[in-house]
Amino acid sequence: MSDSSISKLFEKTRKERLEIVANFANLSSDEIKILQSDNGGISFDKADKMVENAIGTFSLPLGIATNFKINGKDYIVPMVIEEPSVIAAASKGAKVARIKGGFEVSALESYSIGQIQVLDVDIPTAIKAIENSKNKILDLANSKSNTLSKMGKGAKEISCKEIDTPSGKMLIVELLIDVGDAMGANVTNTMCEAVSPLIEKISGGRALLRILSNYSTRRIAKAKAVFEKEAVGGDEVVDNIILAFEFADNDVYRAVTHNKGIMNGTIAVANAVGQDSRAIEAAANAYAAESGRYRSLSRWSKDDEGNLVGTLEIPLSVGIVGGIANVHPVAKVCTKVLGVKTAQELACVMTATGLAQNYSAIRALATEGIQKGHMRLHARNLAAAAGATTEQIDVIVQKMIEEKKISLDRAKELLEQI
Ligand code: MEV
Repeated sequence: MSDSSISKLFEKTRKERLEIVANFANLSSDEIKILQSDNGGISFDKADKMVENAIGTFSLPLGIATNFKINGKDYIVPMVIEEPSVIAAASKGAKVARIKGGFEVSALESYSIGQIQVLDVDIPTAIKAIENSKNKILDLANSKSNTLSKMGKGAKEISCKEIDTPSGKMLIVELLIDVGDAMGANVTNTMCEAVSPLIEKISGGRALLRILSNYSTRRIAKAKAVFEKEAVGGDEVVDNIILAFEFADNDVYRAVTHNKGIMNGTIAVANAVGQDSRAIEAAANAYAAESGRYRSLSRWSKDDEGNLVGTLEIPLSVGIVGGIANVHPVAKVCTKVLGVKTAQELACVMTATGLAQNYSAIRALATEGIQKGHMRLHARNLAAAAGATTEQIDVIVQKMIEEKKISLDRAKELLEQI
């Protein structure tokens, strides 16, 4: 089994990094070529078929986070993100979590929720009628996906709820669909549209909206990791991280930023493997407010030995079949790099990355602040851009930090002096 604790990946050349990734994930030479391409993976022709009025493509950095051990398996994690420090922070968080065995993560089966808004009905009578015809409605829904039906998946349950609105009461019928390894938006929408005439007939009402809910509360992933006290920085740092969490959990202004840090990890992986990041963020934010108050998505405490314990629970509707994940060549290779075999496994990795990211962010905030690390990375990038070799980079970075003069010009001057 491959070991993801690859030290100093940042000091290697692109070629060396690609070799390491290719060996770890058994990539073919064609797959390596896809990662090497500088157009971000899709041609204009492809882009033109994906969206309207296309005029080009837009690429972002793709990096690899190291050190991840999740449920006993090692992962190197592709992340697509424009922000410096995030990939380093995720790798650092995973490195510390690894000391105590890494992340334990579980994900519920992939049940998607479809909603049908039914108006102009006597709601109690309609609910009874729908419940009596439940099997007929489910059969009709399932006739729309042979693939899911063959796998024993598909629409499984129907539930009804009443909501009160300024325009009066409404009946909301919800279809619960086991979408397997797909994200499932298309099949959910198709099934909702297919059953709505039958629901109208049964209920005597008028179906208006028929659409998937992105609030995927039947696809929750839960991650936990123990961060060894000494590696965190000792008792005081552990206590300060818990205080930092309490700040986030009790103040919405801080909670949004804290949760944004979690999304830095989770969404960067989502981007790399072609997931719908808007759906994930919308659901995560709703989940953060599940109690009626917007709170921290993660929780931090300490165990009997004083080690820091972090947990993260988020709804994640992700898929490894269908959608952009199967069309975008780089997303396909990234899924192979990750080595996930099911949508649930992907959700586990994304949750662990969010937790690792959150650990590193609040640890930095509760100790030296985040600017120092940012400036160090910025300085590294400038030294590299000035043309410095790996050994020269360290010297130049150190000097620029001491002088508090971090710029490309200064990096070039220092390089000439070496
Ligand atoms: C920056 O992208 C993310 C942080 O602001 C997260 C946080 O404050 O916890 C560092």
